[in-house]
Amino acid sequence: MRLLNRSAGRLSRHRRGPLAGLLVLLLGLILTGTVYAAFSPASATKAGKSDEELIQQGRELFLVGCAFCHGQNGEGVKSSKGQYGPSLVGVGAAAVDFQVGTGRMPMQQPGQQALAKKKVYTDEEIQALAAYVASLGPGPAIPDESEYSLEGLSEEEQREAITKGGQLFLTNCTACHNFDGSGGAMPNGKFAPSLKGVEKRHIFEAMLTGPQQMPVFSNDVLHPEDKAAIIAYLKSTEDTPEYGGFGMGGLGPVSEGMFAWLVGIGSLVGFAFWIASHTVRSKKKTAPTEGTEA
Ligand code: HEC
Ligand code: HEC
Repeated sequence: MRLLNRSAGRLSRHRRGPLAGLLVLLLGLILTGTVYAAFSPASATKAGKSDEELIQQGRELFLVGCAFCHGQNGEGVKSSKGQYGPSLVGVGAAAVDFQVGTGRMPMQQPGQQALAKKKVYTDEEIQALAAYVASLGPGPAIPDESEYSLEGLSEEEQREAITKGGQLFLTNCTACHNFDGSGGAMPNGKFAPSLKGVEKRHIFEAMLTGPQQMPVFSNDVLHPEDKAAIIAYLKSTEDTPEYGGFGMGGLGPVSEGMFAWLVGIGSLVGFAFWIASHTVRSKKKTAPTEGTEA
């Protein structure tokens, strides 16, 4: 009991300081953010949506954004009149997650190499599109994070994986992507892109689905552990760990919203405190009789 009293006393003493006030506010923000994230509509619909509904949503998105090139039922369009796309039957969810997740699809201009660009769809919409395309015919699924993460391995094992990944990269990938993964030219004005800053899941999916001239490295040819090793190697060659914004562990819009909430509002609060403390200080300056510490 005495102990409790003492620590309570310490807390209230601390609360008088402006920094402690900021801390309390931040804690409050974290709490509100967490509660919001837990009950936000995004996570609610994801949990509540059945496969049927997801496929239905995906089909609607597909008819609007993809059918023009890929056909009403994903069967492909053969005509060359500025309108062409291969059949998507059997390409699997992984191909959609890769193509739409890297912004390659929807393609803007047919006829040239589909370029990676800012993605057009939200993660949830990509899931729906992937579910719809997967329903057209069996194909590779979106890999689970456990398949490409080295978590749980000792430091020594991680180092071994990176070495092995480097060797596998050398034999399987350098011919097109260059020794350090910086990319290179291909015949007919096409190119193999730089692999720097590409999300781990997208690297895995690229191997799994072989976009354009890239060969398919199925899980029978290159086991998931080998793919994970290659990914670890590629990440180890990146001097700056994340390109194109914060990684946030790929946790999706909820964690990113949470991050914006904390950093955005947190810094506003911090700024308000800064202004407040500076106003006080300037007041003190105008009253020199009081001011001992300026
Ligand atoms: C302007 C035409 C066009 C539009 C619109 C378009 N695509 Fe494509 N898509 C293509 C072409 C051409 C290819 C093949 C060449 C390539 O991969 O660059 C392709 C390839 C793909 C692939 C790879 C197939 C494989 O064999 O791995 C997927 C998956 C895909 N598209 C999905 C979509 C989805 C989903 C949409 C809608 C969000 C979409 N596309 C919109 C033209 C289009
Ligand atoms: C024969 C040449 C070739 C080989 C071999 C090859 N790739 Fe590719 N790779 C390509 C091309 C071409 C593209 C671009 C496809 C596109 O734009 O749709 C590509 C795209 C990629 C991407 C997507 C990058 C991005 O910007 O989103 C990744 C990741 C990738 N390759 C990884 C690998 C890995 C890992 C290996 C070895 C296991 C490999 N590739 C082997 C030709 C190749």
